Amino acid sequence: MAQLFTKDTQAIFWNNNTTAIQRMLDYDYTIQRKTPSVAAIVAPTGGSKFEKFFWGADEIMIPLYKNTEEAKAAQPQADVLLNFASFRTAYDVTMEALSIGGFNTIMITAEGIPERLARKMNAVAKEKNVTVIGPATVGAIAPGAFKIANIGGTIENIISSKLHRAGSCGLVTRSGGLFNELSNIIAINADGIAEGVAIGGDRFVGSVFIDNLLRMQENPEVKYMLLLGEVGGTEEYKVIEAVKSGKITKPIIAWCIGTIAKYYDSGVQFGHAGASANAEAETAEAKNKAMAEVGIFVPESFNDLPNKIAEVYNDLKTKGMIGDIVEPQTNTVPKVRKNKQFICTISDDRGDEATYAGFPISSLATPDTGKGIGDVISLLWFKKQYPKWATDFIETVIKTVADHGPAVSGAHNAKVTARAGKSVVEALVTGLLTIGPRFGGAIDGAAKYFKYADDNKLTPAEFLNYMKNEGVPIPGIGHRIKSLKNPDLRVEGLKRFANEYFPATPLLDYALTVEQLTTSKKENLILNVDGTIGILMVDMWRALGYSEEEINEFIESGTLNAFFIVGRSIGFIGHVLDEKRLAMPMYRHPMDDILYDVKMAEKI
Ligand code: ACO
Ligand code: LMR
Repeated sequence: MAQLFTKDTQAIFWNNNTTAIQRMLDYDYTIQRKTPSVAAIVAPTGGSKFEKFFWGADEIMIPLYKNTEEAKAAQPQADVLLNFASFRTAYDVTMEALSIGGFNTIMITAEGIPERLARKMNAVAKEKNVTVIGPATVGAIAPGAFKIANIGGTIENIISSKLHRAGSCGLVTRSGGLFNELSNIIAINADGIAEGVAIGGDRFVGSVFIDNLLRMQENPEVKYMLLLGEVGGTEEYKVIEAVKSGKITKPIIAWCIGTIAKYYDSGVQFGHAGASANAEAETAEAKNKAMAEVGIFVPESFNDLPNKIAEVYNDLKTKGMIGDIVEPQTNTVPKVRKNKQFICTISDDRGDEATYAGFPISSLATPDTGKGIGDVISLLWFKKQYPKWATDFIETVIKTVADHGPAVSGAHNAKVTARAGKSVVEALVTGLLTIGPRFGGAIDGAAKYFKYADDNKLTPAEFLNYMKNEGVPIPGIGHRIKSLKNPDLRVEGLKRFANEYFPATPLLDYALTVEQLTTSKKENLILNVDGTIGILMVDMWRALGYSEEEINEFIESGTLNAFFIVGRSIGFIGHVLDEKRLAMPMYRHPMDDILYDVKMAEKI
């Protein structure tokens, strides 16, 4: 991999560090990236499913996942892990990501990971050919393509240091602060950087100077390189070897900071854990000298570094090896931004014509479109285009439950309300409020319990026993008037449809074995219409490829009862209109139909 990142690179951000993520997205917006550079966030303790961020003046949602495995499964294209876990968990998070696989780069920000663990982690990453940036780093940047978190600082600093578009220098430092400083110096004295990495300040970091320089040697965008080393360690000698052996041929400018160390007693450790010379060869002076000896451009002092950069850059420019840069267009991140109060992911009314999950209403509404209510529901409830057999099933359900006569609980209540002089909407809502676990609202419960029994391979007898212990009647079983002798023909119709059009009906097959047992006890304990709908919807979703978690979520959120609510609203409205048409007077229940058993209240 010659380039660390491209304009398509996406990351999974471990820890919901909103400020750092917003900085990445502001950068993306500025450089006019098409996709956000953060595809997913791992928030192990968060309860939400997404986090909102600004994208220019607008807002976007980034999905949250509980763990890296889920995030990677949902966003397999994201091949960078930005590990912002604390030093206590950063090792585990990295090791887990390495075992999940599919990451090219892992950046670790935490400082102070125990050195033994850091070495182990880096060794495994090397084995798997994964570039580790850090620990103890602000990360890396491919200007104009992808920027990790806070590297480069504020957006104003990024623009003034020309980090918003690619230049020609490959920059490698240990320190993040000096990385920013040098980016600015390079922008002033040359044309900016093509790729830059702050490898991190810990003694044992994943990718070391040589790893990054060898990659930059292969990256055609990089024309020369700048290495900012430090007192301590011997990594610079590997670079010297690579220059000597001809593995690196591009010009390198290098400086080791910490030449002041000689004025202190030996063993002084500077800012970074690794910044301490344990031998003469590890001093900044020795390393600077050795680098100069193999032809690396080493300035007289840090103050002279800008001149060296200008010298090397101008030389390459004169030789025609570096061309002129056409400054790209950028977006400006607005200073004042407003959070949106509501989110809508199903429909959009901002254009000439409103859309349902992307489809203009006119493309669904009229008969010539070939679309029906099942298609509209699949778009607005599930944001998916279901196949015909599934939309036909949805419509069959709605038509099947539209009404069951005036005597059923909900219709009765709607009628009484209409007769009390209430409006259509009030009377309808009264009917709807009657829908519950005994009447019409057992669909979710049926799906939940039968699915549980089937998932856990309970025999019908075990299932009945389980429900007895739960202390609830089995949702979807039993009917006031329907029985084996007086079968519910709606149920027969739904089963016939499923047998003919469903790819498979495993949950229905299981439910029928339960029904055999319940009807052997009492003949009205049939699989009722609620039960049949709930169970067949699970079979439908499984056949459509939904995961078990997604199906469980539908059940938990009450999606299944919603089919009854939609269907039965048609019937309730019919009954209310019937009352109005007939101009029926207020209803009073006959007193002889009430058992009055009122005793004088006892005095306390
Ligand atoms: N699971 C287990 N046992 C049941 C069930 C059930 N779902 N339903 C009734 N029973 C048993 C009762 O425990 C009772 O037993 P017992 O005689 O030993 O005491 C016996 O059957 C009769 O119980 P009732 O409540 O009198 O039955 P009824 O026929 O009046 O009730 C009802 C019908 C309310 C639908 C009931 O079967 C039930 O609660 N079912 C579960 C909820 C459900 O599926 N509702 C949707 C119905 S379809 C629709 O509304 C569109
Ligand atoms: C219905 O569809 O409303 C019924 O199955 C309930 C009933 O009591 O008939």
